[in-house]
Amino acid sequence: MNVRNPLVAPLLPAHLEAVQTLDQRALGGFWTASQWQVELAEPRRPGLGLWLDGALVAMASGWLVVDELHITLVASDPAHRRQGHARCVLAALLQLAAAQGAERATLEVAAGNTAACGLYGALGFTSAGVRRAYYRNGDDALIQWRGLEPSPQQNR
Ligand SMILES: CC(C)(COP(=O)(O)OP(=O)(O)OC[C@H]1O[C@@H](n2cnc3c(N)ncnc32)[C@H](O)[C@@H]1OP(=O)(O)O)[C@@H](O)C(=O)NCCC(=O)NCCS
Repeated sequence: MNVRNPLVAPLLPAHLEAVQTLDQRALGGFWTASQWQVELAEPRRPGLGLWLDGALVAMASGWLVVDELHITLVASDPAHRRQGHARCVLAALLQLAAAQGAERATLEVAAGNTAACGLYGALGFTSAGVRRAYYRNGDDALIQWRGLEPSPQQNR
């Protein structure tokens, strides 16, 4: 990994402009402004950003559903890819979810999304199911899971 002095911190309502800019650059606008406002305000929808020299360069967010983290979005700035940013921010989100009681994490990824499949594989996710031709371009959706270790601070 080659991350220089990154700051990983929760995404907050005040970060609306920064998350929309990164969303646009990385995903072409996955969520609208009003969807982002909900995501940033809702405590059971944790999101973390990785900031480098004051700029948001990667982010990961999810929904806590009982004892599961449903990962909804992972994105990294196209100008800063393959530098470990997405891995760093997603690993931190998994830790945060575990600290809040999540026991496993799940996500859906397009089988043809080589970068995302590589990222999730590197973080220990494995496929448990396939939704055939799920996406508009005919790509399959892989349903992936990973167990989460309880954090040392947790009294179980
Ligand atoms: C997927 C994405 C988040 C990866 O971001 P990134 O910051 O470049 O990823 P990292 O540098 O942290 O990569 C971590 C690991 O993921 C894998 N990986 C990342 N990009 C890859 C690629 N293009 N091809 C193959 N493996 C890749 C590698 O295992 C990599 O580790 P390595 O560089 O030591 O080999 C980024 O490409 C992106 O934003 N894509 C568009 C949005 C998207 O598809 N999001 C996921 C679905 S919501």
